[in-house]
Amino acid sequence: MAVLIFSSVDIWGDDEDGITEENCSRDCQIVLVENIPEDLSLPLDGRPHLPLSLGFNTLLDQAKHSVEVVSPGQLLFQRLLSLKSRGVKLKIASSLTNSAELKTLAAHNAEIHFVNMTAFTRGGLHSSFWVVDRKHIYIGSADMDWRSLSKRKELGVVVYNCSCLALDLHRVFSFYWQLHERDYIPSIWSKRVTAIYGRHDALATTQRHRGCCLCTSPELFCARDRTRDVDAIHQVIQNAKTFIFISVTDYLPLVSRSFRGTSVTRYWSAIDEVIREAVVLRGVRVRLLISFWKKTHPLTFNFVSSLKSLCMQLPNCSIEVVRNHDWVGSDLAINTGVGLVVKMKNSLEDRGATILEQLKAAFERDWKSRYAKNLLGNKDQQGKYRNLKQGKMHMESKEENKWNNPLSL
Ligand SMILES: *[C@@H]1O[C@H](CO)[C@@H](O)[C@H](O)[C@H]1NC(C)=O
Ligand SMILES: *[C@@H]1O[C@H](CO)[C@@H](O)[C@H](O)[C@H]1NC(C)=O
Ligand SMILES: *[C@@H]1O[C@H](CO)[C@@H](O)[C@H](O)[C@H]1NC(C)=O
Ligand SMILES: *[C@@H]1O[C@H](CO)[C@@H](O)[C@H](O)[C@H]1NC(C)=O
Repeated sequence: MAVLIFSSVDIWGDDEDGITEENCSRDCQIVLVENIPEDLSLPLDGRPHLPLSLGFNTLLDQAKHSVEVVSPGQLLFQRLLSLKSRGVKLKIASSLTNSAELKTLAAHNAEIHFVNMTAFTRGGLHSSFWVVDRKHIYIGSADMDWRSLSKRKELGVVVYNCSCLALDLHRVFSFYWQLHERDYIPSIWSKRVTAIYGRHDALATTQRHRGCCLCTSPELFCARDRTRDVDAIHQVIQNAKTFIFISVTDYLPLVSRSFRGTSVTRYWSAIDEVIREAVVLRGVRVRLLISFWKKTHPLTFNFVSSLKSLCMQLPNCSIEVVRNHDWVGSDLAINTGVGLVVKMKNSLEDRGATILEQLKAAFERDWKSRYAKNLLGNKDQQGKYRNLKQGKMHMESKEENKWNNPLSL
């Protein structure tokens, strides 16, 4: 019986513009885009990345037919409004019910579908991505809000001329799109949301990417064949041979679930254990850049120092932790997210031009910046940490200075 009801999902569907997995374009150009708040002075490393706003504008300039958006930014509101005059269809999936901007867009040209996260997981719609003409995409860290970019540090990637990935990301979008006016996740889905690429059958581009695939969370939102975020992260860490640089808002291997009014917290080993393995058994150099702000969970310090102490007596063992700016078990279980995994071909030509080199350079810049402080250095800093626990200390930079990590390479 249930199958009959859920099969209504199959009736829906727009065509995929005649592009199929067989003839989609793999000539993908991946570019790092970043937004750095005005009051943050980070040293330029000689390889400036494309500013996020420029990346968005370039994408919108190219749009001829359709723009599908999860999580638009205020900066672009006027640009989104003007798509109508160019005959470009705009679709937005949002968890906001009361946004003036969304109402204005709906009154003009946009089709807007509401995703009721409260009903599905009680989490948030934290994914942020765009699909333009089923050809170019953006995946990034920008949260679902309309605040100005001037206060937020964001990082993302724009992938041009890549209808293969765009088609796959469009399927993720379709998944959200179909949740409109639902309060349950169907157990049977249309083939139009089935993943095209996964961690075991990733897309090889004509460029230097040996394998690209999308991953999503929470598990409930992973359609058939879709790689879960946690599995993608797990695999990337497990395959690391030389170094792992991790930049996340929070590092907390715990899951809390509320069950009949009481909150139950458990250790969540999925990622923590592979990091330990990489450090201790394979001698991989690990750098963790974690945010240190007023919402930092006090146990972060315990987990991170235990990681570090594992290393103490071992030759060549290296784990470095800098407090700064989520890998939190609970978040991956309830909030939506979309990530991109890119494996590079081993080749020494064009170093510096690849997304891996760009991302590494951005990480090293933040790592060396004056905002990054060693968490586990001296007593003084631990003292400061205790102050933080009492709520006295704020991070040097903005409270809203959250970064997520959309990329694993
Ligand atoms: C791709 O293949 C489909 C189905 O075979 C066809 O309808 C479409 O026109 C092709 N698209 C391009 C861009 O070649
Ligand atoms: C979202 O779902 C919750 C729980 O099912 C429900 O109480 C709420 O009214 C829904 N919100 C909207 C705007 O439909
Ligand atoms: C995308 O492809 C078009 C046509 O082949 C080309 O002109 C353009 O430069 C490409 N864009 C990027 C960013 O590589
Ligand atoms: C430690 O590193 C040195 C130099 O890279 C290497 O020669 C040595 O074999 C390493 N030792 C272990 C136990 O991995």
